[in-house]
Amino acid sequence: MGNDSLIHREESRKLRIININKTFTGGSQNLAALSNVSIKINEGDFVCILGPSGCGKTTLLRCIAGLERADSGEIMLGENPVRGPGPDRIVVFQDFDQLLPWKTVKENVAFPLKVNKKAPEKEIRDTVKQNLALVGLEEFEDYYPHQLSGGMKQRAAIARALTIHPKVLLMDEPFASVDSQTRTSLQNELIKIWEKFHPTIVFITHNIEEAVILGNRIAVMSSRPGTIKKVIPNELPRPRTVGSAGFSERWNELNNLLVSN
Ligand SMILES: Nc1ncnc2c1ncn2[C@@H]1O[C@H](COP(=O)(O)OP(=O)(O)OP(=O)(O)O)[C@@H](O)[C@H]1O
Ligand SMILES: [Mg+2]
Repeated sequence: MGNDSLIHREESRKLRIININKTFTGGSQNLAALSNVSIKINEGDFVCILGPSGCGKTTLLRCIAGLERADSGEIMLGENPVRGPGPDRIVVFQDFDQLLPWKTVKENVAFPLKVNKKAPEKEIRDTVKQNLALVGLEEFEDYYPHQLSGGMKQRAAIARALTIHPKVLLMDEPFASVDSQTRTSLQNELIKIWEKFHPTIVFITHNIEEAVILGNRIAVMSSRPGTIKKVIPNELPRPRTVGSAGFSERWNELNNLLVSN
């Protein structure tokens, strides 16, 4: 393959959010949620979107997922405009109730493969096993969601999101409701998964520390109507912890951007 075609292939998998606007109309009021949001995300990038509560982060993610339609602007995945949800973009939400309650952990994780690919049984079994091992849930494969803790449900939701190797993993504050120890271990697992498979990750958070630990780039949003104030490269060496080199400087830089809303 020549250089040109390689460059073309990489270009063609880029996620581009181009000048999108979104206003909700409810009752007598119009509520502007997003204003001229633009950001380019390369294949395999890990971008954190950081913004204050209510600034439009979930709305932006839902637009990328194709669950919400922007009023104007365009979202492109490679050469294709996003017109609705698709198996190339998988969402992991914040709440713990995304699993099918009548299915066991392993059946939940297998579900996208059964629905989307109609894959052979053996392939499904192997993938489920590998993904449960990645998130440390091998011993709980026969449990039902109601028998799991919140953090375990999030692990299962991540394992399920990985089963069809999505190009883009969209995560909306997925670790916001767990204790800080569980959060750290889920963050570490996500980094391991990203280093192994290099999906493009768009990770929403309002937690500065989490953005610095996870992201390769951090996009800071203004308060509503949300717009992208600045995108900061975050190339600190991994693994990152609160005390590691450059961490507090980056934290302060982001905090200053957030408070100057
Ligand atoms: N379906 C909807 N109908 C009307 N208004 C909506 C709808 N969804 C979101 N909004 C409004 O859009 C604004 C942005 O909401 P959004 O959920 O995107 O914010 P957020 O940044 O994710 O907030 P949080 O950090 O609290 O999760 C809010 O003012 C919200 O009330
Ligand atoms: Mg939200």
